[in-house]
Amino acid sequence: MTARTGWVSSEIRELKEAGRYVPIRTIESPQGAWVSIEGRKYLNMCSNNYLGLANHPEVKKAAISAIENYGVGAGAVRSIAGTDTIHVRLEKKLAEFKHMDSSLVFQGGLLANAGAIPVLVGKDDIVFSEELNHASIIDGVRLSSAKRVVFKHMDTDDLRARMKESRKEGKKALIITDGVFSMDGDIAPLDRITEIGEEFDAMVYVDDAHGEGVLGKNGRGIVDHFGLSQRVDVEMGTFSKALGSMGGFVAGASDMIDLMRQRARPFLFSSGLNPGDAAAVLKSIEIMSTDDSLLKRLWANSDRLKKGLQEAGYNTGSSKTPITPVIVGDEKKTLELSSVLFKEHAVFASPIVFPTVARGVARIRLMPSAVHSDGDIDATVDAFGKAGKSLKIL
Ligand SMILES: Cc1ncc(COP(=O)(O)O)c(C=O)c1O
Repeated sequence: MTARTGWVSSEIRELKEAGRYVPIRTIESPQGAWVSIEGRKYLNMCSNNYLGLANHPEVKKAAISAIENYGVGAGAVRSIAGTDTIHVRLEKKLAEFKHMDSSLVFQGGLLANAGAIPVLVGKDDIVFSEELNHASIIDGVRLSSAKRVVFKHMDTDDLRARMKESRKEGKKALIITDGVFSMDGDIAPLDRITEIGEEFDAMVYVDDAHGEGVLGKNGRGIVDHFGLSQRVDVEMGTFSKALGSMGGFVAGASDMIDLMRQRARPFLFSSGLNPGDAAAVLKSIEIMSTDDSLLKRLWANSDRLKKGLQEAGYNTGSSKTPITPVIVGDEKKTLELSSVLFKEHAVFASPIVFPTVARGVARIRLMPSAVHSDGDIDATVDAFGKAGKSLKIL
């Protein structure tokens, strides 16, 4: 450390003092209902691996076989020398699955938002952005230099009022929202948002990171859930959650996707998605398209978990999806609860504090999955009951 970087240790100390320093655990096993940490087995309640596809035998086989055929890396930026047939097959499959004309694959969901939004709007344009949008949307809007107007969470009256106030003729406008809100699990009213987009001639963009594999027929996502196919301009998603792997995409009209291929900076200036990841996602979509048993199991576990926690006396907020926030409020208490669950009950459930959520609504976010058993869910509820009582949260 040089004298110039002394400020780093003070910032870390401040984070620790404020109870906002989150320990990062190292996992020694595959993602699943249980994981191994420092040689001990823990019930894993914080992975976004909704359907268990991250460690599914057929998905792993597909990735291994793609590595044998294409190697481990795409080799270059896709527009220069890195587009493999597996990327093209995946893009075709995704468009079909999403009932969109075309799609473009990125190396991550964050990069999809950072890349796509600045293609759609620029400094003379305006973005109407949901108050609780994911950080990657906020970054994408910042990168676009467009004017940003924030509308209230889940409040389409407020969106309409902001539109009336700020929508200028002759300029492009974009409404952008998370589909499922990642910290609360509530579902954006995309039907009403789409109507407002149509009324005010504003493009509609939805980030379906937590809707894929969870909502709609066979887990097609939020657009299918609301029956809005071909009325939403851009559906963005990630492969890192229900699809079990890594990467992101946008889907929309063919010419829009064509323009993204020419202009989206993470596509043009960063090497392509690894072939193994692309093949894994392709297999995950095939599995989801033909078999909805994992989806059904996910929802059954989610209902059981919420019911159990509510009966125990916890506040699980306004979630309408498997995302299950256990809202404690106080940041230090939340960290303590997570720590007692971990040390005394072998439940791995990470605390979520400011700045990921606002101050005063700190929580533990639980993510049930299709690979948890009824016993796993009941053990989680039991552990929360005991830990909550011992810490006088309940
Ligand atoms: C709503 C939302 N959008 C985008 C992302 C980013 O996805 P990725 O992990 O693929 O970068 C996430 C992941 O945390 C998310 O929750």
